Amino acid sequence: MPSAFRIFVPMFNTVIRPILDALPIERAHRIVILSLRLVGLVPGGRWLLGKCCATEALSLEREVFGVRFRNPIGAAAGLDRNGEVFGELGALGFGFVEIGTLTPRPQSGNPTPRAFRLPADNAFVNRTGLPNCGLETAIRHLRHGHRGVVVGANIACNAATPPESAPKDFLKLFRNLYQYVDYFTVNISGDDIRDEELVRTNDYINAVLTPLFDFRRGQNQYRPILLKISPDLTDEEIDRVTDILIATPLDGIVATNGTRRREGLATDAGEVTRIGAGRLSGAPLTARAIAVVRRIHERSGGNYPIIGTGGMMTPDDVRAMLDAGADLVQLHTGLLYRGPGLLKEICRSLLVPGKPESPEAQTEPENPADPGSRS
Ligand SMILES: Cc1cc2nc3c(=O)[nH]c(=O)nc-3n(C[C@H](O)[C@H](O)[C@H](O)COP(=O)(O)O)c2cc1C
Repeated sequence: MPSAFRIFVPMFNTVIRPILDALPIERAHRIVILSLRLVGLVPGGRWLLGKCCATEALSLEREVFGVRFRNPIGAAAGLDRNGEVFGELGALGFGFVEIGTLTPRPQSGNPTPRAFRLPADNAFVNRTGLPNCGLETAIRHLRHGHRGVVVGANIACNAATPPESAPKDFLKLFRNLYQYVDYFTVNISGDDIRDEELVRTNDYINAVLTPLFDFRRGQNQYRPILLKISPDLTDEEIDRVTDILIATPLDGIVATNGTRRREGLATDAGEVTRIGAGRLSGAPLTARAIAVVRRIHERSGGNYPIIGTGGMMTPDDVRAMLDAGADLVQLHTGLLYRGPGLLKEICRSLLVPGKPESPEAQTEPENPADPGSRS
């Protein structure tokens, strides 16, 4: 392990994390994003991040839905909503970054407070309502490319868009982002305003997906399309979504978003009630997210890509998720609780002994995960 990493992680845990923990979640998140942007602006900043944090090894590389990943661990949607720091997250060691959720027009989300820590459970509750700066800002950030890190776009309709117009919102995002990202995730899981029953129906899902398939058919480049689902689907609903995967040109499933359930929490029940509605993420979600991935994997005969997300807090959680059938995994709450040391720990736990490290890791390229400078 490089000595810079041995200094960086204790410094993060003893100095930076207590400061961030004392701030409201969204303010702490904004400070982290701005700090990463600052690092990216300093010459050699991303290179240094990579040196301190990233693990490069041939045995970590994966090819999934036709895209080459330098490792299977991604940054989940919500971490880089507007596509501001995918280069820096790539330099930190993520194999891919899912930006968004993006909507066509900017939206401010739900009233605050809307994100809460449950430290006794290593969890968060959020009802942010998909705040983001919209399509145009994301394109401004993406325009200069993202060499060295796979970038996916998580897309959804605006909260104000009526359900019958939702497919138009999805298509607008898809067409305009098509040339800028490596894959798409259609988010029918995280919208806490829309009628959940409706977005779970096959009619709604097909109405959203079909125009995307039609548009893609006319393009020279192929962009995989995945569907992100809620862990609160019934087994029957999971099977129906899996059957869409089998029957249509859908490329994969991202499972799962946070849950609305609250069973088995260590946090005081009064506190849980006071926090109120929202999606619970982190350790209480691990078992459910893994069970959903296993069900999709088994029903689809193990033939379709799955990105496993939800409660990935330790290398053992990631191993269990991969064993259940995930091809890739994403971190969100685990990263916010444990810091970038978790990513390193996970990558190192996945190394295959005896396989050589990648040649790139032996040299010191000027900027290994440089996606190009951005505005
Ligand atoms: C504060 C917060 C914001 C999130 N924002 C989004 C989002 O914009 N779009 C999305 O698809 N998922 C979003 N998520 C869900 C995560 O991407 C992930 O699916 C979920 O939290 C489960 O993973 P975890 O337990 O590792 O956090 C958000 C999660 C949190 C905690």
